[in-house]
Amino acid sequence: MSEPTIGVFEVEERTFPPAPEFVANANAGDRSLYDEADADYEAFWSRQARDLLSWHKDFDQVLEWQLPFAKWFIGGELNVSYNCLDRHVEAGRGDKVAFHWEGEPGEKIALTYAELLTEVKKFANVLKGLGLQKGDRVAVYMPMILELPIAMLACARIGVAHSVIFGGFSADAIIDRCDDATARLVITADAGYRRGAAAPLKSTVDEALGRGAASVEHVIVVDRCGTDPEMTTGRDLWWHDLMADASDDCPAEPMDAEQLLYLLYTSGTTAKPKGIMHTTGGYLTQVAFTHKYVFDIKPDTDVYWCAADIGWVTGHSYIVYGPLTNGVTSVMYEGTPDTPGKDRLWDIVERYGVTQLYTAPTAIRMFMRWGAQEPAKHDLTSLRVLGSVGEPINPEAWMWYHEHIGGSSRPIVDTWWQTETGGHMITPLPGVITTKPGSACGTIPGVFAELVDDAGNPVAVGGGYLTITRPWPGMLRGIWGDPDRYRDTYWSRFEGRYFAGDGAKLDEDGYLWLLGRVDDVMNVSGHRISTTEVESALVDHRAVAEAAVVGANDEITGQAIVGYVILRGEYEPSAALGDEIREHVGVKLGKIARPKTVIIVPDLPKTRSGKIMRRLLSDVANGRSLGDTTTLADPGVVAEIAERAQAGEED
Ligand code: PRX
Repeated sequence: MSEPTIGVFEVEERTFPPAPEFVANANAGDRSLYDEADADYEAFWSRQARDLLSWHKDFDQVLEWQLPFAKWFIGGELNVSYNCLDRHVEAGRGDKVAFHWEGEPGEKIALTYAELLTEVKKFANVLKGLGLQKGDRVAVYMPMILELPIAMLACARIGVAHSVIFGGFSADAIIDRCDDATARLVITADAGYRRGAAAPLKSTVDEALGRGAASVEHVIVVDRCGTDPEMTTGRDLWWHDLMADASDDCPAEPMDAEQLLYLLYTSGTTAKPKGIMHTTGGYLTQVAFTHKYVFDIKPDTDVYWCAADIGWVTGHSYIVYGPLTNGVTSVMYEGTPDTPGKDRLWDIVERYGVTQLYTAPTAIRMFMRWGAQEPAKHDLTSLRVLGSVGEPINPEAWMWYHEHIGGSSRPIVDTWWQTETGGHMITPLPGVITTKPGSACGTIPGVFAELVDDAGNPVAVGGGYLTITRPWPGMLRGIWGDPDRYRDTYWSRFEGRYFAGDGAKLDEDGYLWLLGRVDDVMNVSGHRISTTEVESALVDHRAVAEAAVVGANDEITGQAIVGYVILRGEYEPSAALGDEIREHVGVKLGKIARPKTVIIVPDLPKTRSGKIMRRLLSDVANGRSLGDTTTLADPGVVAEIAERAQAGEED
């Protein structure tokens, strides 16, 4: 593990207090929630659970904490899909739009809460008809179409856990995830639209099932793009055929508060992704609470838009579960932000009157590059709160977001959290906290964090490792099938503390500045990618003998993947071979994990104990301007590595 890098950010003097007009109408306009939670955090969370959710049976104990295993709201029973749908319909809000969905080619669907409920009930019956039962696992590999939240909510309705696999992942990723969870079913689509073309999904599922994922009995296919995929008789079923015959009578089954809601696989420091487990009552409480207060949601008037993909945790918590629990109208967009033009997002904001926009710093930096004239073409005055997630936001991007999207007056909430935390952990509440560009500010009410030094001693001011000191309702309940790994990964580095893997800095005013991962995990465009995973994909190529992967700073994507490879004796370095190796990783893991640069080297610098000197490789990568295809053996790099290694630099 490397030391947290301190001082990446200049000292930031600018501060932005909440505007009085905002405070006057804010869901939280003073510190009372913080005070309440500080006084008794279990009582605080139990009040949120009862205020924000509908329970079939009230819980009789708030928390059982046997470090590191937590149970929240013990004895309570509820159903997630009931909370997201039925109760809004029963309260007479069935005609309210749940999703304004827009396909990349431009189709528009306004799906109401009542319509969404009907679809969910029908699909839950489809799942039952295929023999799926409470406790089973189902893999979901879909584009951003309405059938995706329908499938997730139908699973939740009957206690089946979904495992959503990001649509950009490869056949290998599908195999690994289906095998690990012994998924009985895959739900997919023929394809989804990306940059004007139909990007196939079903064929990738076919490839996966041809090579592995033996537990999968059926594949349900949505006909999104009319690409006429191959259908295997007996195994593959069309969504529309199944739904045509499905009954819409399917009462929500009460679930135990600790019923498994979903698995979501995420990269760690080893080659094997971890199946993060989220359960029902605590998770839903935290996502509903944070969604309501961090975005200052007014369900009667707001049109909320989280522009993430549901394949990541951001989409789970803040496209599906949080917004629907709170009964708000959301926008859901299928495609890319530059199709057909670079103002697509701003056009959507204007047309729907979007009030909250939630996106990633990578996207903001891309918008900066595209220029302020793009958002300036549209009226963005409907926006009230701007959110950022996934990676540290540099002050320059923060200021651009503030000025060009937020009209220099809207609050920005920089939300730090992880797949593992389920919901927001560190972020300002917009009506309470004075923000500083680039700082995620502090913990939300009911969450407690501390920075510690290498020895685990709390740090008052300066740099350290970010730890969480008390359990929180949305916390992961474990790693699927591997309780020891759960303990080792998160709870063993610092005794009694959850270690998130991030370094951070505390300034004199007590503000937190996230500095990025301190382990072997890279953050590329807000997506977590493990160096080890990319290394094993590189050495999987027939020409590669050895590989080392490091993250290099990148102006747009935050970090970019740089792979150093040594070729097997019989291969000659060439640009074409380098490209082939890069592509190989793209095929093995998915495009997002394809290295930006592969540098072919004759040797890798190692310490005397045989450890690759990663810090040195990372310094070398960071000191160069890296092109998208720099794949040739570069004598300059080689010489530099050798020189530095000789000078005795060690990790
Ligand atoms: O390094 C932190 C970074 O993203 C990691 C979590 O990644 P993932 O589980 O994929 O979830 C991403 C979306 C919640 C964290 O360990 N990260 C996330 N949000 C921020 C962040 N780093 C700095 N600032 C953030 N706001």
